[in-house]
Amino acid sequence: MEQDIERVLYSEEALRERLQELGRDISRDYAGKEPVFIGVLKGSFVFMADLVRQVTIPCSLDFMAVSSYGAGTTSTGAVKIGKDLSENIEGRHVIIVEDILDSGNTLSYLMDYLGAHKPASLAIVTLFDKPSRRTKPVYPRYTGFTIEDEFIVGYGLDYAEKYRNLPYVGVLRRVIYSE
Ligand code: IMP
Ligand code: MG
Repeated sequence: MEQDIERVLYSEEALRERLQELGRDISRDYAGKEPVFIGVLKGSFVFMADLVRQVTIPCSLDFMAVSSYGAGTTSTGAVKIGKDLSENIEGRHVIIVEDILDSGNTLSYLMDYLGAHKPASLAIVTLFDKPSRRTKPVYPRYTGFTIEDEFIVGYGLDYAEKYRNLPYVGVLRRVIYSE
């Protein structure tokens, strides 16, 4: 796996430090609100696990599985639900947890979908944002890191289902996805 990575973008240490800040901000902003975190599978599973352990207020968790990508590196535009909510979110303060915001297709769909369930509030925390690629208007309340238009993997993020288990985030060598 290591030889497929062009360079490390965020080390385990850098990720840990940023997550401490995010957890502190969310805990402060949602004090007394008992938010529900909705992780967008599969990419957010590592981020979600580490983030909620930095949250110091009562909260609950749920997951959805959606896909907008095939095996490639560009979005097809269509969003498909693989796993729906298991809790009722009406009247709840919902925080969507996403690995990376790219075109905005996935999150703009989810904002509409979850908004229709009448939550008390709806916000997004995304670990990475690639604003230069945006085609839909999506505004995260919390962003871990804003990055250039490069394809990254690790810490939950995949290319064709691989590299999710890398403990750091790296830029994938271009030859891997252009061959
Ligand atoms: P969007 O719907 O185009 O915003 O894409 C969001 C989804 O695309 C993310 O949840 C990821 O699964 C995937 N994605 C976008 N950019 C990257 C990347 O650089 N590495 C890995 N997955 C990515
Ligand atoms: Mg993916």
